[in-house]
Amino acid sequence: MILQKKFMTLERFIYEQEQLYPNATGQFSGLLHDLSLAAKLVWREVSKAGLVNILGVTHKTNTSGDVVKKLDEFADETVYKAMDHGGHVCVMASEENEDILHIPDEYKAGKYVLLFDPLDGSSNIDANITLGTIFSIYNRISPGGKGTLDDCLQSGSNQVAAGYIIYGTSTMFVYTTGHGVHGFTLDPSVGEFLLSHENIRIPKKGKIYSMNEGNYRNWSSELQRYVDYLKESDKETARPYSMRYIGTMAGDAHRTLLYGGIFAYPGDKKNPEGKLRLCYECNPMAFIIEQAGGRSSNGKQSILNVQPTSLHQHTPVFLGSEEDVKLCEEFLQGKR
Ligand code: AHG
Ligand code: MN
Ligand code: MN
Repeated sequence: MILQKKFMTLERFIYEQEQLYPNATGQFSGLLHDLSLAAKLVWREVSKAGLVNILGVTHKTNTSGDVVKKLDEFADETVYKAMDHGGHVCVMASEENEDILHIPDEYKAGKYVLLFDPLDGSSNIDANITLGTIFSIYNRISPGGKGTLDDCLQSGSNQVAAGYIIYGTSTMFVYTTGHGVHGFTLDPSVGEFLLSHENIRIPKKGKIYSMNEGNYRNWSSELQRYVDYLKESDKETARPYSMRYIGTMAGDAHRTLLYGGIFAYPGDKKNPEGKLRLCYECNPMAFIIEQAGGRSSNGKQSILNVQPTSLHQHTPVFLGSEEDVKLCEEFLQGKR
């Protein structure tokens, strides 16, 4: 048998990338390394969720007498615990916590800021459907010591890295540092993420749209017209589009990254700012999609240009293939 590709673990890839920067201190590599450990620990729990009956249970005792936690709380604590002592992060913030998360006093504060959605798609847990973890990394802007809220409230264009882990038919770690988007698939038998998708490029145009169309009646007439347009028949523009919607942003965005098309969670009459969170979900995904040659928007401008004013703020989001997102913006702005 002839092996077509060289094996490249995430560890080695990170190490080789670090070598490209002679002044690198190793903090960033350490951070990514610890995140990949957190990913494996969360994957381990996610993959046996159906077995151990921890679904939807908080602080209950299981049959072995252990206190068990809801999976999203477990993921939240696991990411924090994996990242709090490495000396690379000065502050964190997570979708599951109201306020910023400080590094314990006994550990050194580093130069990076980590924002994360520990378990994305948690309403899908009980149905054994794809889940994710999403992360966003910034340089600190505060001078030293403990990190601050302002460190966390930077616009997405300041991200130095972003990525997600998707717990699907395979578990994948996908990330960017602003030099392309790379995907690694977990080989569970050896416990390593192996490079499987180098330099992912999103198709210029796709033929899938992904939105919760149950909200159609609450959408603006402009958005309704766009989606009506996607459903019309026209061979040249590959219409009608197919609709796919998992309800786990990491999964829906991952499919959009690979197959093209558009993923959106718009604002509507009930929730003008939509449902998804700028800092934990939209910024990291927008960075990845744009790095892969796609486009992101809040309807008016790139998601990455939105200045966050609070940790948990929501934003309408449209992301995917450049042509699809552009066309959607034209509809939204009344130009079509
Ligand atoms: P989370 O589980 O982190 O709260 O996120 C759920 C989000 C996101 O993953 C998904 O795109 C969206 O909720 C689905 O919302 P609807 O059920 O309203 O479609
Ligand atoms: Mn989420
Ligand atoms: Mn979540």
